[in-house]
Amino acid sequence: MSEQIGSAISVDHLTRRFGTGADQLTAVDDVSLTVAAGSVVALTGPSGSGKSTLLHLIGAIEQADEGSVTVDDVVVSALRRAALARYRQRVGFVFQRYHLLPALTVLDNVIAPVLPRRGRADHATRARELLDAVGLAGRERALPAQLSGGQQQRVAIARALMGAPGLLLADEPTGNLDSTTGGQILDLLLDLRERHGMTILLATHEQAIAARCDRLVRLTDGRVTEDLDLTDGEDPADTYERAARLRL
Ligand SMILES: Nc1ncnc2c1ncn2[C@@H]1O[C@H](COP(=O)(O)OP(=O)(O)OP(=O)(O)O)[C@@H](O)[C@H]1O
Ligand SMILES: [Mg+2]
Repeated sequence: MSEQIGSAISVDHLTRRFGTGADQLTAVDDVSLTVAAGSVVALTGPSGSGKSTLLHLIGAIEQADEGSVTVDDVVVSALRRAALARYRQRVGFVFQRYHLLPALTVLDNVIAPVLPRRGRADHATRARELLDAVGLAGRERALPAQLSGGQQQRVAIARALMGAPGLLLADEPTGNLDSTTGGQILDLLLDLRERHGMTILLATHEQAIAARCDRLVRLTDGRVTEDLDLTDGEDPADTYERAARLRL
């Protein structure tokens, strides 16, 4: 996967159903989407519209019933076992509720995804660099419970970056945070994109967050119902006017 500019994504007629018979629900319904390498895309839509499911399918946390996901030259939906595990290591996933391991220190939480691999000293060095990059230098030995929500989310972001992903999938990364802290987390993601070259796909309910992304894709009942290019001759600083127009 490309690490300089980030990964390109192609989602093709992707469908994911849950349940059977009369109870069957189509969470992602024939979604096709291409995402340019290095772009930051906001995935919006009402609760239950399929945002998390789509992120899970792209991150190969769940399998599609129909359609395909291609990331750079890898057909993710066709991967099996070892190749799938390798792909998952190369995609960063930030969950809404941080999912930190409460008994592990901040440093060990960041190292956790690569623990089975050799070279703990190298991993620790990289983890420290990442914690520094997310503004948590000096907190390596703290436990998650000793950190604020925003700090825990920073740990989760550092952990997601451990495998140097070309693609970062973030499921409401600012959802549990106040708007100032949420804005800082987005600053951090945009800065990481600039410095490391990454494609970022983030689910959000917040118009102020979506307005700062390059593109907005809205899902309704599992389908794409709006797809807006937000880089279109706009002043990126003018987020409030953009947010108002987005009617989130
Ligand atoms: N594991 C599951 N089993 C059954 N139904 C599921 C499962 N996961 C999701 N769904 C259903 O699929 C639909 C889409 O859910 P999803 O979590 O993707 O929505 P969302 O847009 O992320 O919502 P929210 O904004 O509340 O996070 C919902 O109706 C949900 O109930
Ligand atoms: Mg969700």
